[in-house]
Amino acid sequence: MRHFITILVCAVSLFLSLPAVAGNAEAGKKTALGKGCAGCHGVDGNSINPQWPKLAGQNAHYLAKSLKIFRGNDSETYGRIDPIMVGIAKMLSDEDIANLAAYFATQKMQTGEADPELVTLGYNIYRGGDKAKSIPSCMGCHGPTGAGNPASGYPALAGQWAAYTEAQLLHFKSEERRTDRNQMMRDITSKMNREEIKAVASYIQGLYD
Ligand code: HEC
Ligand code: HEC
Repeated sequence: MRHFITILVCAVSLFLSLPAVAGNAEAGKKTALGKGCAGCHGVDGNSINPQWPKLAGQNAHYLAKSLKIFRGNDSETYGRIDPIMVGIAKMLSDEDIANLAAYFATQKMQTGEADPELVTLGYNIYRGGDKAKSIPSCMGCHGPTGAGNPASGYPALAGQWAAYTEAQLLHFKSEERRTDRNQMMRDITSKMNREEIKAVASYIQGLYD
């Protein structure tokens, strides 16, 4: 029995120590150009249109997860049914996804600026939450510089377009987007009003590490 447990523990730790999908960034760049991702998200993952998310510097695990949700038959279950992304993701193989994720993860995010009128409220929520309303700080999961935490599945936020971030927070609030494990983001946004959402999205646009 003891042997069996030892073998089991070894097998599990071996499994856990395997690297996550190791993509090839070089090949990913070619795919980004070939499949037209660059047209919207920018060659280096810095999009120009604030409705299209920047992908530069996002962790590879989260990029791959999002692409698989768009591609999968359950994108409706997760409420990410963006018609453009769903159509495009269907053309991607697992290898394409790993390569694209590796490529965009190695690019540098170009950050923006926060709206001076919203920055105080945004700062307070991002860094301290709101105890009276039981809103946790965003920093607790997404990190003080907004770099995220790949191991826990928390995406990087720093420098992202405020318009995109605001739209996603509203999608969580309306429960249209249901990609978040244990409803983490749906719970938080259910306690936030539109002004708070707008302010924190603006603060995030100006955040950098
Ligand atoms: C015509 C414009 C367009 C093209 C082309 C396009 N995208 Fe997108 N992409 C979008 C939009 C808009 C969204 C936001 C969708 C939403 O609101 O959920 C998005 C979202 C994403 C996300 C999720 C980002 C996040 O932070 O959750 C990833 C990853 C992504 N795209 C990767 C790609 C890749 C890889 C390609 C090429 C194979 C591609 N996109 C092509 C417009 C585009
Ligand atoms: C308990 C941990 C936790 C806290 C606290 C938290 N988040 Fe999140 N957040 C997540 C997770 C997990 C996801 C990824 C959901 C998914 O996989 O699609 C996420 C996703 C997001 C996204 C979507 C990113 C994208 O590119 O589409 C935004 C925006 C976001 N969070 C903003 C915030 C803000 C603003 C706060 C503070 C008000 C906050 N988060 C607090 C865990 C957290």
